[in-house]
Amino acid sequence: MSATFLRSIFDPKELPSDGVPEIALIGRSNVGKSSLINALTEKKELAKTSSTPGKTQSLNYFEIDKRYYLVDMPGYGFAKSSKTARGQWAGLIDQYFADRQVLRGVGILLDARHIGLDNDNLIMEWLSGLDYPWFIVLTKVDKVKQQDISAHERHLKKEFERAEVVFKTSSKDGKGIASLRAYLKNQIALPEFATSE
Ligand code: GTP
Ligand code: MG
Repeated sequence: MSATFLRSIFDPKELPSDGVPEIALIGRSNVGKSSLINALTEKKELAKTSSTPGKTQSLNYFEIDKRYYLVDMPGYGFAKSSKTARGQWAGLIDQYFADRQVLRGVGILLDARHIGLDNDNLIMEWLSGLDYPWFIVLTKVDKVKQQDISAHERHLKKEFERAEVVFKTSSKDGKGIASLRAYLKNQIALPEFATSE
């Protein structure tokens, strides 16, 4: 997988309009979005990571295999974020998802240690109401017992039927990364899906 950083976008008006297909990664602050991009691309410092939540504040575009973009989104649910910051996050995200024809999939990342958080559930309900294909990526499975992961997976599949797949990943030990990579490649090759508008 070749990968280069393209650019950071703070204003929806600056979104690429080159028709290149893309996959967006969304999730709470600190869930491991940037780390996942580094694991997928096998580049340790492509996306900036931090143990302090709130590291990514813009939509960060990465060009993959000269074929598609991976979009690293700013995290939500960061306790210390101000009301203004939360408003900015919602504005950027809302406008991004309003009409993004090139979007071939949305991955929501869930920390395998903390399943069932209110803000994650809200986002998944909201995603279920949109037309984009979406999937779940459990992160940090290296920190959780296999039986707990299986229970989470069963619960999520039952609760969120619109989610196409549940991936179980660890950016630390590489678990599940290859199958996610293969899925993304396949997703990008799909023709543009019809939106209901
Ligand atoms: P924001 O940019 O703040 O939204 O966070 P993010 O979702 O991009 O998280 P990031 O990738 O920066 O990772 C947050 C912390 O979790 C870092 O300290 C990572 O090293 C750690 N981390 C990420 N993925 C894993 C994983 O699979 N296993 C373990 N053990 N730690 C991980
Ligand atoms: Mg990040």
